[in-house]
Parts: sequence; structure tokens; C-alpha cells
Amino acid sequence: MIDLQNITKRFDAESGSVEALRQVSLTVQQGEIFGVIGRSGAGKSTLIRVINLLERPTEGRVLVAGRDLTALPAAELRAARRDTGMIFQHFNLLSARNVFDNVALPLELRGESKAGIRAKVTPLLDLVGLADKADRYPAQLSGGQKQRVGIARALATDPKVLLCDEATSALDPETTEQILKLIKDIRDRLNLTVVLITHEMAVVKEIADRVAVMERGQIIEQGATYDVFTRPQHATTRSFVADLIGFALPPALQKRLAAQPVANARLWRILFTGPHADAPVIAELSRNLGLDLNILHGRIDEIQGRPFGVMVVQARGDDAKLLAAKSYLASRQLIVEELEDVIAIDRAAV
Ligand SMILES: Nc1ncnc2c1ncn2[C@@H]1O[C@H](COP(=O)(O)OP(=O)(O)O)[C@@H](O)[C@H]1O
Ligand SMILES: [Mg+2]
Repeated sequence: MIDLQNITKRFDAESGSVEALRQVSLTVQQGEIFGVIGRSGAGKSTLIRVINLLERPTEGRVLVAGRDLTALPAAELRAARRDTGMIFQHFNLLSARNVFDNVALPLELRGESKAGIRAKVTPLLDLVGLADKADRYPAQLSGGQKQRVGIARALATDPKVLLCDEATSALDPETTEQILKLIKDIRDRLNLTVVLITHEMAVVKEIADRVAVMERGQIIEQGATYDVFTRPQHATTRSFVADLIGFALPPALQKRLAAQPVANARLWRILFTGPHADAPVIAELSRNLGLDLNILHGRIDEIQGRPFGVMVVQARGDDAKLLAAKSYLASRQLIVEELEDVIAIDRAAV
């Protein structure tokens, strides 16, 4: 549905030129929710604005629904832009217009009749749960309600693509969850393609089918959300997912381990992923292999409906038992990492 090919975007300012995007290529499939995550300044907003050519790329091509937007004359580009709706962090509503008239705006702009507008806006307000708020003004609405208006307005021209730039970043966690649910629901009902920009990995985890990680104008990693969360390749990605998946050892635990080394013990981080993610391996390890296991830290979660867990255990036993345990875990396709090195470094620092 969306195909960005070798996009470079340079901004020329008096202080010099900034390359906001550097050779970015990206494909978004029809009907998927595609997340883009990165820190502030990474180039996310520029990327999303390139998709509807609000920013014209310095180099590269932008294809949406099979059309090369970069090659279209102005009039055709205006028409093609109706294929994409956009929502924003700060909603961008007109304060002097009520809810109904905010949603009606794009329809007025393209010259719809009054009756046509009513026939379109009323079901949209229903869809976003604001049927009883049509006469309210933005100042009378909560943040979540304002974003619902933004969503209804973005959908008014029947777009194929919904672009969301930090659409939940101004909302509290509970409202964020409701808006993400709504976006998912709308994707399912209208078979929309969604591109969602965020600096919060929790948002990606909640909603994205696939994700790209951006840093300094480049995509440094991309893949299915489950894969990126459970096997992050790049250091930046690892730091993004660390807290959410329980990857990092809590500082207090690290200190305790460094201060009181246990003889004949190994420290393992076991990643529960793959087909045996929910197998009772800890019980089997101690029962069948006679290993002395002490669970120090763990988190079990679900990403895109698939189970995933991280557990840090202290394993005690002779070398033969430890080796047998590791090969048993490997046979279950679970990933085991030795954490001794992490602790050794820490011990030196204590
Ligand atoms: N209109 C502009 N003029 C000059 N520089 C810009 C402009 N828009 C963005 N930039 C620069 O491009 C880089 C990426 O910005 P942006 O896409 O907004 O990042 P993000 O959305 O990830 O925070 C930043 O260094 C920013 O200062
Ligand atoms: Mg931004």
C-alpha cells in the first residue's frame, strides 16, 4: 500500500543543512498497522509527512496505492491526498467550530452538499463514540474525546491510509489504551492501513503488527513486532524494549548479586519465546535434572497475542547437570544467556 524508495530529506537552514531522512526505504502492507519508533529528532515526523507529501523528499519516490505521488501534477496530488487521513499529537481542531463542524470540514472543502455532509458525519461520530457530543466545542472535551474528533475528521474523506503522528503522546495511559483500541477497531472494520509514529515502545507493543526503529534519519531495524521485541538486534532497540519486557535486571538485584556471590552457581537469563514459550521448563529442570533453581526475576507477557517471558534464575549443580540443563533448554528452543559477565563487571564497580 505504501512504498517509500530511497527517501532522503534535507532541510536547508542558515545554520547549515540537516538531513532529516537518509536513504529510507520502507514498505507497508495493505491492512497492517505499522509502527515507527525513535527518539525525539530521529526523523519520524518528517517520515510520516513524506507519505502524503506534506514534505517533498529531496531524493526518492513515494508510492501510495500504486501511484507515484512524487510524479503527480498539483491537481492530481490534491486528489490523491484524500487517500490519506492524518491525526496529530495536539489534535489540531478548530476551537470556533463544534464537533460536527470539525469533522465536516474536509467535506466542506471539497464542496459536498449539506445533506451529503450530514449523511457522512453522523455515522462517523457514532463510530468514534461521540454521537451525543456533536454540538460541543473542543474546549468542552477531554483529550481522548478531542482525539476521537480528530480520528472522525481524518476518516471523513474515506482514506485508505491513516497516518498517526504521536497521536496518543498527550494522553494519559488509560485514554491511550482506549484510543489505540479504537484505531485497531477502525482498521479491522474499514480495512485501513495505519502508520503510527511514537516514541513509546508500549504503544508499539499494544498495537503494531510490524515496527521500524529510527535513529538519526535512518531505519536501523525493522520486523514483526514480536521478533523485534524478543530478539532486538541493535543496541538502541534493546534499550527501547529493555524495561517493557523485563530484560534489564533491577538495580537492587544487581547490587545484591554483586555483593554476595554464590559458590557453584550460574546466573542465567532465559527467554521464553517460540513454540515452547509456555512449557513448564522450570519445574522440569528441577524435577528431572535435579538442578537447584532460584528464580530471581521474571516477567511473562503477551506480544501480538503470543506469549513471551523473561526469567533470571540462579542455577546450582555440578557441571554435568548444568550442561544437561542448558542442552534441555536449547532443545526446547528457549534462549539462555549467561549473565556472569554482567555481574562480574558490576562487582568490579561496587
Ligand atoms: N522544517 C524543518 N526545517 C529544518 N529542520 C527540520 C524541519 N523539520 C524537521 N527538521 C529537523 O529534522 C530532524 C528530524 O525532525 P523530526 O522529523 O521532527 O523528528 P521526530 O519527529 O522524530 O522528533 C530534526 O533534526 C529537526 O530539527
Ligand atoms: Mg515528531
